[in-house]
Amino acid sequence: MKLDNDLLIRASEGKDVERTPVWLMRQAGRILPQYRAIRNSLSGFKELVETPELAAEVTIQPVDILGVDAAIIFSDILVVPEAMGLPYQMIEKKGPWFENTIQSIKDVNDLVIPDVNDQLSYVLDAIKITKNELDGRVPLIGFAGAPWTIFSYMIEGQGSKTFSKAKKMLYSNPELSHKLLQKITATTIKYLKAQIKAGADVVQVFDSWAGILSHQQYLEFGIKYVKEICDAINEVPITVFSKGAYFARKELGELNCNTIGLDWNMDILESRALIGQNKTLQGNLDPCVLYSDFKSIENQTNQMLCKFGKNRHIANLGHGVYPDISPDKVICFIEAVKSYEH
Ligand code: CP3
Repeated sequence: MKLDNDLLIRASEGKDVERTPVWLMRQAGRILPQYRAIRNSLSGFKELVETPELAAEVTIQPVDILGVDAAIIFSDILVVPEAMGLPYQMIEKKGPWFENTIQSIKDVNDLVIPDVNDQLSYVLDAIKITKNELDGRVPLIGFAGAPWTIFSYMIEGQGSKTFSKAKKMLYSNPELSHKLLQKITATTIKYLKAQIKAGADVVQVFDSWAGILSHQQYLEFGIKYVKEICDAINEVPITVFSKGAYFARKELGELNCNTIGLDWNMDILESRALIGQNKTLQGNLDPCVLYSDFKSIENQTNQMLCKFGKNRHIANLGHGVYPDISPDKVICFIEAVKSYEH
């Protein structure tokens, strides 16, 4: 289907744009009262994720209410470990929790590389419904967690400040670690390809915990598998967001992907120099800027846009929008991007 607004696609491909496209990581859910209303009528987060019609509805809310230039499918990176054999729960005010984790090679061998069309059909159905309802207004972004980030949850069984159990596994049992990362990678490639077949116009790989690894570990256990994913996906533009991996920007720039996401600690001009001219950059306003007043949000957004330049940039925050940010502040950021003249 032809897109009415294809700014994000053109920016990803390095083509000229009239203005910078803008969307926000974690725009679906978290901040909109209209999301909370649907969410509160259900048993929990999982029911929403697993009900395609409702997942499609909350995916489109930010397009209607905030005016973003892309939708991101409402789902979670944790559907992948679940489809491989480790079910998760989303505990209110606490976050994800896995009853079973990976501790031994037997645990790794027991995991399956699922038939994604069967095990993850609810995500693919949500994508099909969303594409239909968007009717070409804006592109739809599909996504998955990067192998290292999924590995962390599989070992730890929940969030962590240090992810020391997951890091310990890399140091103490590299063989098991590689075997597990390989299995996650194989699943992720199948899953992203299925999302694209279902209608995703762009895909993003979230490596949320990249920044807790050393440079050496990230090359060996992180980027290696992200590279396999990038090399396998040629159908649509692909974005890699490795949060905190400032030390690996040069290697990220060598990936076979279109776009690199920057967090707010990554200096824009330095990142451009390290990553090179052939990638689109996405980001990277500090999410906390949206706690300041409207004028400051506009000023900071303008400064950011000036540094990135007109082409090869997709405006976004440097990480997901925080749950207690007022939608008016988000709209202020979006409007500042839309009205900026380079
Ligand atoms: O971007 C979007 O809005 C689309 C949907 C989306 C969700 N999770 C919905 C969600 C996306 C892209 C994600 C990705 C995700 N999930 C990441 C990578 C991105 C990042 O922020 O670094 C990670 C690490 C997770 C794992 C996860 N899911 C955690 C740690 C939590 C609990 C805390 C939190 O972030 O809210 C979730 C729950 C979750 N995923 C919610 C939403 C809307 C909140 C659940 C609720 O409604 O109660």
